[in-house]
Amino acid sequence: MKSFYRIAISVALGLFASAAVAQDAAVIENCNGCHGDDGVSQWSDVPTIAGMPEYVHADALFFFRDNERPCSESDYKQGDTSRPATTMCQVVADLDDAALEDLALYYFELPFVAAKQEFDAGLVAAGKARHDELCDKCHSDGGANPDDEAGILAGQWIGYLENTFADYASGAREQDKKMKEKMEMLSDADVTAIIHYYASQQ
Ligand code: HEC
Ligand code: HEC
Repeated sequence: MKSFYRIAISVALGLFASAAVAQDAAVIENCNGCHGDDGVSQWSDVPTIAGMPEYVHADALFFFRDNERPCSESDYKQGDTSRPATTMCQVVADLDDAALEDLALYYFELPFVAAKQEFDAGLVAAGKARHDELCDKCHSDGGANPDDEAGILAGQWIGYLENTFADYASGAREQDKKMKEKMEMLSDADVTAIIHYYASQQ
């Protein structure tokens, strides 16, 4: 009896979630115009968001909406660059908390696909060594584990990662205090090596 009750609840929640997400079909189409079909990006400076940890994703959207994270202008639309350039901050400006949480859950349930990109194989070992020493505690499995709720680094696009490290270094994007201490131990060469280590995981 008890277990039946649990199943009934999860079925009800499942229906509720898919109804909420269905409402957002037009919003999701807009997201995918830049982030790629099913949130798997085809452009180096746009991150893949499929499989992104749910709470990290929701937080990111809150920060963009509140203009607390840098937004760059982009006009990707499945390769059609005729659409006007817009920013992440503008895209989520009119969405309420519940809508943003629904989007985070929707993309979390889609499979992450590592970017097929060129990388410098000569940098990978040095990058892995720095990652294992300073970052793997929070970004385990080489930055591939969504259960860490710390973003997915393994297989993310190089262009996006380069912009992200630059935004953390300049202070334009806020970061976890403990992460900042580790980040400050990285030389410029370490940062490049770590990025190529993440890109090598395909
Ligand atoms: C006009 C193109 C565009 C559209 C539309 C767009 N994004 Fe983005 N998104 C970007 C870019 C570019 C970035 C990288 C940050 C930056 O440069 O602004 C980004 C970053 C993100 C991030 C941060 C990822 C991370 O790893 O921290 C999330 C989450 C995200 N977008 C989700 C969405 C969702 C959900 C939608 C739809 C509501 C959406 N985006 C619509 C271009 C877009
Ligand atoms: C104390 C835990 C912790 C440590 C140590 C840590 N991180 Fe993070 N990191 C996080 C969390 C939590 C997030 C997600 C929150 C955010 O977006 O800022 C994150 C996010 C990131 C992102 C952005 C991911 C995205 O999708 O935009 C990058 C890149 C990153 N970390 C790199 C590193 C590197 C490189 C190191 C080692 C030098 C490191 N982190 C060490 C906790 C940590």
